[in-house]
Amino acid sequence: MEEIRYALVTGGSRGIGKAVAVRLAKDGYKVLINYVSNEDAAKTALEAVREAGSDGELIRFDVADPAASAEAIQAWQSKHPGEVISVLVNNAGIRNDNLMMRMNYEDWKKVIDITLDGFYNTTKPLLKGMISNRWGRIINIASLSGIRGMAGQTNYSAAKGGLISATKALAQEIAKRNITVNAVAPGFIRTDMTEDLPQDELRKMIPSGRFGEAEEVADLVAFLASENASYITGEVISINGGLYT
Ligand code: NAI
Repeated sequence: MEEIRYALVTGGSRGIGKAVAVRLAKDGYKVLINYVSNEDAAKTALEAVREAGSDGELIRFDVADPAASAEAIQAWQSKHPGEVISVLVNNAGIRNDNLMMRMNYEDWKKVIDITLDGFYNTTKPLLKGMISNRWGRIINIASLSGIRGMAGQTNYSAAKGGLISATKALAQEIAKRNITVNAVAPGFIRTDMTEDLPQDELRKMIPSGRFGEAEEVADLVAFLASENASYITGEVISINGGLYT
C-alpha cells in the first residue's frame, strides 16, 4: 500500500504557491495550503488541487508569527498522528520596495520577518518529523535579488540572500538524513507581485524576451521535490529566462 505523502506550501493561495500546490497534487501529494487572510482564494486553490486529482487542506497562519506557525502545525500533527509532512515549500513572501534612503524600519522588518523568520517558523517544527522519517524535501523560494542584489530592494535582497545562505547551511546539517534543502531563484514571473512593474520595459532586459509563468517555477519545484533530485542539495537554481548579473 502506498503511503500518503503530504506537502505544505506557504502562501499557497495564489501565484507561484498555488501553481506549486497544483503541480505537487499532480504528483500525488496531499497539499496543505497555507494562507493568512484571503480564505476565498485559498478555497479556490484547494479546488484546483482537487481538480488535479489529489486532495488537501487549508492551514491558516502568518508565517512571520512563530507561535501561530508552531501552533497550527502542531494542531495539524495532532489530528494526523503518525503522518509526516515530507515536503515543505517556503514560498510566502512580499515585496516592499524603496530606496534605502527612504526605507522605513517597518518596511525593512516586515519583509525580513515574512521571508527569513517565515523560513525558521515553518521549517523548525517540521524538521523532527522529516528526520525520523528519514526523507524530506525543503524548497525555499528565493529570488534573483537574493543572488545579485537589486537597487530599490535592499530589504528584499537581504531577506532572499539570507534565505539562500540558510538553505546552504541547513542542507549540510541534514543531508545524511536523506533530506534535501534547495532554493529556487526566480527572475521576473507573471503574478500579482509583479503586476505593478513595467513589463514592456523589463522584457527587453530578459534574454528570453518574456516574464516567466508560475507553472514553470512549479515544474522546477516539483523536480526538486521528486526522488530524481535526491543528490541535489544546498543548491540555488535560477529560473529567469537568461537574466543574470
Ligand atoms: P504573490 O504576491 O502572488 O504571492 C505571495 C503569497 O505569499 C501570497 O499568497 C501571500 O498571501 C503570501 N503571504 C504573504 N505574507 C504571508 C504571511 N505572512 N504568511 C503566509 N503567507 C503570506 O507573489 P508570487 O510572485 O507568487 O510570490 C511567491 C514567492 O516567489 C515569494 O516568496 C516571492 O518573493 C518569490 N518571487 C517572485 C518573483 C516574481 O517575479 N513573481 C520573483 C522572485 C521571487
